Amino acid sequence: MWRITPAGHNAPTPADASSASTGTLAARLPSPRSLMAPLDRPLLTQPATADFQLSAELRASRDRARDRSLPLVERLDAFEDLFESEVGDTPLLRARNVERACDLRQIYLKFEGGNPSGTQKDRIAFAQVMDALRQGYERITVATCGNYGVAIALAASLAGLECEIFVPERYHTRRVTEMERYQAKILRGPKGYEETVDASREHARTTEAYDANPGGVNEIIQLQAYGQIAYEIYDELRDAPLVCAVPVSNGTVLAGIHRGFQSLHRRGKTSRMPRMIAGSARNANPIVAALSLGLDSCEDLPPESVRETATNEPLVNWHSIDGELALQAVRTTRGWGHAATDKRMKDMARLLRDQQGLEVLPASTAGLIALVDAYQEHDLAPDRYVAVLTGRGR
Ligand SMILES: Cc1ncc(COP(=O)(O)O)c(C=O)c1O
Repeated sequence: MWRITPAGHNAPTPADASSASTGTLAARLPSPRSLMAPLDRPLLTQPATADFQLSAELRASRDRARDRSLPLVERLDAFEDLFESEVGDTPLLRARNVERACDLRQIYLKFEGGNPSGTQKDRIAFAQVMDALRQGYERITVATCGNYGVAIALAASLAGLECEIFVPERYHTRRVTEMERYQAKILRGPKGYEETVDASREHARTTEAYDANPGGVNEIIQLQAYGQIAYEIYDELRDAPLVCAVPVSNGTVLAGIHRGFQSLHRRGKTSRMPRMIAGSARNANPIVAALSLGLDSCEDLPPESVRETATNEPLVNWHSIDGELALQAVRTTRGWGHAATDKRMKDMARLLRDQQGLEVLPASTAGLIALVDAYQEHDLAPDRYVAVLTGRGR
């Protein structure tokens, strides 16, 4: 049932692309560092690319991380260097033009497009690959609608792990080519996202590969990795914002950021918890459905009621793996949920490009939309608001 697409062995690997620093492909592409910009300046981003360049120092770390003849502790140390140098510390931008267009004061955009594969998924992918390496695995598997797969393929290639990625056949994602360029093996089958996760988990069990799928024992790793987003926001604002708006699919990003803010608040670093806002696709996500229906728990949607489109794909599911955690995070902080149409997400992405110089994935605007379209119903004082966004990917 699962059709294997062998990795494109003729395609340049990150090793080829990055060590050939004057090579034509590598030379033309921006380094991820060039995606960073000072806080108060709008930036025009390039899409994240599969062929990003590493500095000479980091190429040496990559070579050590991949070298199976070295003691594990050295490989881990080298991979940690790559992780800390390349992932996170993304910009927090004051979006004055969005404020003017939306009539809200002090909106900050946490732009996750600064990560090497263009989305926040690099944070959990590098954390999972680090864990796989530590446990002595040589192969890793995951199911994806696109973004997480590219992030895992990249991190695995840097650590010298083989990578097998399950992708629902009917998904429109164009990021499979990038995964293949990182030498990932792609398996496509006729089922939806949830069944594809099951297939990848089963594959991990039967072939002794590392299972990097969300949920289960990986939950804590992924929540901690996303908790870093809260710490980075705190580093800039020196307190928690009034509101933190996040696009949700499985709910892991939102639950992880909430956990990070909880830690900061418990430790007396912040004066308050932010109100957590969940934005997702209309009629296609259990978290926002539970919030709009006032349900006590995050109930699965009827699978046949959920329809993916090229725009809503990153947000769509009938079962949200960390949905319960995300729902309770929103509830306990007096947040809210809001569902957006494809048109609204595309319009918001256009507004961010034209007014703010940001090139974002339309689905990732669902959190910002939940903030600007629904804030009037929620009695908010003038304050600081944060919305998490990602880059466009490919
Ligand atoms: C761009 C983007 N934003 C947000 C999300 C939601 O993340 P989560 O599944 O952790 O809720 C995803 C999930 O794939 C995504 O690709």
